[in-house]
Amino acid sequence: MTFAQNIKSILDIGSGAGVIARALSRRFPDADIYAVDYSDIAITKGIEIANTIGIKNITFLKENITSMPADWTHKFDWVILYDVLHDLPDHVNAMKEVKRVLKDTGVVSISDPDIHSNHRDNVGDTNNAGVCYALSTLICLPCSMSIDGGAGHGIGWGTEEREAFLKSSGWNVKDKRNIGGDMSCNFTCAKE
Ligand SMILES: C[S@@+](CC[C@H](N)C(=O)[O-])C[C@H]1O[C@@H](n2cnc3c(N)ncnc32)[C@H](O)[C@@H]1O
Repeated sequence: MTFAQNIKSILDIGSGAGVIARALSRRFPDADIYAVDYSDIAITKGIEIANTIGIKNITFLKENITSMPADWTHKFDWVILYDVLHDLPDHVNAMKEVKRVLKDTGVVSISDPDIHSNHRDNVGDTNNAGVCYALSTLICLPCSMSIDGGAGHGIGWGTEEREAFLKSSGWNVKDKRNIGGDMSCNFTCAKE
């Protein structure tokens, strides 16, 4: 059996209104999919869309990644953070929670815009970096500074620093690749 055939439970964290969760529901119709976000508006919209188009296997819940339900320990085969990690003010406790809710045999997929951590290395990348720096200044950076002592990352944190953080916090980075027309870098990680 392949890993995909074994997937029964999926958690999409920072789901927004559920674009990724709905795509997953088409690909994994028999899986239990949870889509969580700390935004009421996102979760309400996600439920509305799923009800309108008749999706049955997504549960939308308002949750903060740093304090997910106690009974979710070792619940999920696959956890996804799409365009979320660089937004978080408390990425350290967030990834500890991800480790708790992930099965020991599970994997987590973490995708963020593919920007170099050394800002000088982005010179000339007018396609990705220019737009990302502008968006990040207005959206991601304030989000990552939204609590006292927040990380203040935003997209400028960059791919190399993200990889170093994941490795130093006990994740086994099994795969690293560009996705989304090379706009994002995805890390597939397992517990060490
Ligand atoms: C850039 S959006 C990505 C949304 C979605 N993954 C997508 O690709 O369409 C980041 C999302 O993370 C959510 N988010 C940020 N901090 C969070 C936290 N601490 N706990 C849960 N969700 C969070 C935001 O509300 C937002 O919906």
